[in-house]
Amino acid sequence: MESTENRYSLALKQITKTANSALPVKKVITSIAGCTAKALQTTGCAIMILNPQKEHLDLIGAYGLSDMYLRKGALNARKSYPEILDGKTIAVADIFADKRSQYPEHAISEKITAFMGAPIVQKEEVIGQIRVYNREKRHFKPIEKDFLSTVSNLIALTLEKMELNQYLSSYHEANILQHQKLTSFSRLPLIPIRPTNFSHPSEEEFARLLDFYQVEWLYEPRSFPLAWEDKRITEMFTPDFFLPEINLYLELTTTKQSLMTEKNRKLRRLKEIYPDINVRLLNKGDYLKLFAKYGFISLGENKIAGVQKILFNRTQIQRRVKSLAKQISRDYQGKDLVLIGILKGVLCFMSDLMQNISIPVSVDFMAISTPTNNIDTAIQITKDLDLDIMHKDILMVEDIVDTGMTLNYILNYLAARNPASLKVCTLLDKSARRLINVPLDYVGYEIPDQFVVGYGLDFRGKYRNLPFIAVLE
Ligand code: IMP
Repeated sequence: MESTENRYSLALKQITKTANSALPVKKVITSIAGCTAKALQTTGCAIMILNPQKEHLDLIGAYGLSDMYLRKGALNARKSYPEILDGKTIAVADIFADKRSQYPEHAISEKITAFMGAPIVQKEEVIGQIRVYNREKRHFKPIEKDFLSTVSNLIALTLEKMELNQYLSSYHEANILQHQKLTSFSRLPLIPIRPTNFSHPSEEEFARLLDFYQVEWLYEPRSFPLAWEDKRITEMFTPDFFLPEINLYLELTTTKQSLMTEKNRKLRRLKEIYPDINVRLLNKGDYLKLFAKYGFISLGENKIAGVQKILFNRTQIQRRVKSLAKQISRDYQGKDLVLIGILKGVLCFMSDLMQNISIPVSVDFMAISTPTNNIDTAIQITKDLDLDIMHKDILMVEDIVDTGMTLNYILNYLAARNPASLKVCTLLDKSARRLINVPLDYVGYEIPDQFVVGYGLDFRGKYRNLPFIAVLE
């Protein structure tokens, strides 16, 4: 009988050989999945990557699993064994005795009982997972865990080598993919971004509206089995849209009562079987209420006069601000940090940024009057700092840097007060219009030469209260 060592060494030989071959990446990944399942003598293997928001795991290669199991939809990365995302290799001897399984009903139909998963780590960041599944209950041994971790390291190297990074970056750019289409690597490329034909014009209109509000969406991304006969699926329900940012499935309705009744029945059933899934039936009148609820538009407004296009919605801004705050908290660890903002444009940004900074900080504000005509040429300080900033670490927080004149003036003014350090964090950088070179240490977004409003920024005193950043008509 073949020894375990021999099986592992043969598998690693095969994996490294395939990884080093000229085969297309899909073949390599599928082959690695096969080698791994065979070496560990498991029923199947799946290799998945994390989406850019680190919310979902999308399949990029599999072996030994049925199409139905693979079509179970993208895994919610945080709900399905999140320890793996934190870098741990885990083994579950009996999925049914374990509360963490996200799709136990699929595990039943696939007759899967045991499971082991390892993170795929690239540059100290978890980018995906490899999982092996077993029909029978099984206590995986430490040597088997080690083997899976070794394979996952090889996958990380392979992905890097095969420039899947390029693949990933197009994925990041598109920021969207239809999970259901990814049942095997052979069906890649990853990004069928927009469906060419919606099944109803109202869906197309809704998609356009989502685009306007910069809300990410997936069209019919997952089918939910609703009824079975002898473990064979006899009824499924595929909601029209999934909005990953708010983890919500949507089914659009027409006013036709017979269809409504049928959809309502299916929806009730879906909620019974999958209580963790957020799904809603939505008719046209409800669109705007939904957007309002999630902060994409101010309540009661169905059109914002003058707004041409939304550049960044609230969810996107929050995500970016959190990431800036994390970086700042890391860089200023142990320092005496003072955040300084200029009123009023920085209001929203400062508020969100400071709430996400995890180290102790002080905050102060200045107000200035900017020249409105050629007669007043100087910027005037109308409210000075309250704090003494000598020997303190100062981070100047700006909403937008345009020509750089204002910031340059303020930086000179602050430097004269002998702070220990002086850096700049701006949410927006309109670099195309820069007249004076000012150093920007933290930048939220680079934007083109367009006048923007919202999230604190105004046009003639208006629009500051919009929860997003938009371009005016
Ligand atoms: P700078 O001195 O030209 O860099 O201009 C900076 C100031 O101009 C900002 O603090 C804003 O108050 C204002 N500003 C520049 N561009 C915009 C814009 O697109 N929308 C709103 N205010 C802007």
